[in-house]
Amino acid sequence: MTHSPRAFVIGWPIAHSRSPLIHGHWLAEHGLAGSYERIAVAPDSIDAFLRDLPTSGFVGGNVTVPHKEAAFRIAAERDAVATATGAVNTLWIDGGRLCGGNTDGPGFLANLDAESPGWDRSPGPVVVLGAGGAASAVAWGLAARGFAVRLVNRTAARAEALAARLGSGVAAHPWADLPKLLSEARLLVNTTSLGMVGKEPLDLDLAPLPRDALVTDIVYVPLETPLLAAARARGLATVDGLGMLLHQAVPGFERWFGVRPAVTPALRAVILADM
Ligand code: ATR
Repeated sequence: MTHSPRAFVIGWPIAHSRSPLIHGHWLAEHGLAGSYERIAVAPDSIDAFLRDLPTSGFVGGNVTVPHKEAAFRIAAERDAVATATGAVNTLWIDGGRLCGGNTDGPGFLANLDAESPGWDRSPGPVVVLGAGGAASAVAWGLAARGFAVRLVNRTAARAEALAARLGSGVAAHPWADLPKLLSEARLLVNTTSLGMVGKEPLDLDLAPLPRDALVTDIVYVPLETPLLAAARARGLATVDGLGMLLHQAVPGFERWFGVRPAVTPALRAVILADM
């Protein structure tokens, strides 16, 4: 008897997740028999859900807010990125054991590589705003590439704790130092929720940034955040946040369904049509 592989995304709430659109697009594109379901898992049932996974019939799935830390805690094995960041966003079953990885950092890097071919990516100082889960993934990825990551957050203690966790290559700096930090930065990444639809914009003077600096946002609703619009108005190169969402999905799909999918303009169009 053959089974179609079944994968999922879990979160609480989960209705907003665009992952089913991404994986559904790839399943159809490759003509694969398989499914990818959205499952709402409440915080008080996440541990039981994860413990039951190896015998559930699922091949694996994605994990989103607020369950990435629980998935890290319960996975029997974790990849290097998950271990560094303390968060798991991709699960799979191997030999009856629950395994967890984190594809957010690699997804950020893959998107940067795909969308900024002209940017000089040799190691140098970069500024990452924020200290939450997204900041952790982005800072890990940039440090792994050899960049000197300068982490700046409204709540300084969170940036300091994250820098201590990530270790060499990541240092926390006060918000008040941003003009000087920006003047030396090769790249600015916003990982805070500021600029997201319904939230206030990020209030930041971009004038100190060098002319060849790149500005990226991980917010993708709207696609052009006020930060990216301001950067473009100054003639700076920008990369929007949608690509990171698409690229972080690639390794999971390949693991569960056996085909490495591509991030294409057609896939971007599917997500944009839903926004
Ligand atoms: P995620 O896991 O998605 O990164 P998070 O842990 O809630 O989410 O982090 C949100 C980030 O946005 C934090 O860095 C937060 O700063 P604090 O640590 O000081 O809370 C940042 N953020 C949210 N609202 C902000 C605001 N009004 N001004 C500055 N930073 C803000």
